Amino acid sequence: NGRVPLIAGNWKLNLDHLQSIAFVQKLAWSLKDARLDFNDVEVAVFPPYTDLRSVQTLISADKLSLKFGAQDLSEHDSGAYTGEISGQFLRALDCSYVIIGHSERRTLHNETDAVVAAKTAAALRHGLVPVICVGETAEDLETHGPSAVPVSQLKVALATVPQGADIVVAYEPVWAIGSGQAATPEQAEQVCAALRAVVAEKIGQDAADKTRVLYGGSVKSGNIAGFMRQPNVDGALVGGASLDITEFSNIARFQ
Ligand code: G3H
Repeated sequence: NGRVPLIAGNWKLNLDHLQSIAFVQKLAWSLKDARLDFNDVEVAVFPPYTDLRSVQTLISADKLSLKFGAQDLSEHDSGAYTGEISGQFLRALDCSYVIIGHSERRTLHNETDAVVAAKTAAALRHGLVPVICVGETAEDLETHGPSAVPVSQLKVALATVPQGADIVVAYEPVWAIGSGQAATPEQAEQVCAALRAVVAEKIGQDAADKTRVLYGGSVKSGNIAGFMRQPNVDGALVGGASLDITEFSNIARFQ
C-alpha cells in the first residue's frame, strides 16, 4: 500500500533527563545492531517536553534516523497561557509529530473533541504531523459497539482539517491501555478500517490512502506481528513497552 509503518514510543511521564539521553543512544545502537532499515519503518519517540531539546541535540549530532515528537501542545500559538507549550516552540525543536487527544488527556485533563480539533489545527498550522488519538471505553464498547465512539471522535477532530493534510491516526481502545489486555488484530483492523474511511470522507481518498492508522494499547513484541499483518494497521503507538530497549527495538522489527 506504499505506507511506511510508524512505530511510536510514548514515554508519558517517565524517563528523566539523563535516562532519556541514555535511552535514545541505546535504542539507536540496538536498532543498528538489528540492521533496521529506516526505509521500511519509521521509529519515533515522544519524551516529556523537558527532554525534547536533549533528544533533538543527540539525534541531530549523531545523525540518527529516529524521529521525535511531543505528547501534547497548546491550541494557542502565543499569549497569556501559563504553563502551555505551542506548536511553534515544538517546530523550533525539530519535532516531527505531536500526540493529540490521548485518552489520558481526555480523561484526566477534560479534553473534549472540540479541544482535540483545535489542537489538531494548531499542529498543522506549524508543520507538525498530529497523531490524533481516538478510542472507546469498555462501557462504550458494550453500549455502542466497537467503531462508533472512535469514528465520532475522529469526525470532530477532522472537521476543519484541509483536504490532503498530513496526519496520523491512532486507535487506542481505553480498555487496552496499560491493561495488558490488547485488542485482537481483527478488532484493531475493523476499527482502523472504519477510521480510514472517516479520513477519506473528511479530507479525501488520497489522504486516506497515505495516512498511517496506528493501533495502541498493550502492544508488546509478542503481539506486534499480528497487528502488522492487518491491511489497515500501519504501526503502533506504544506506551509501557516503549520504555524497554529490547522490547521496543523488537517491536520496531515487528517481532
Ligand atoms: O500512548 C500509548 C498508549 O497509551 C498505550 O499504552 O502500551 O502502556 O498500553 P500501553
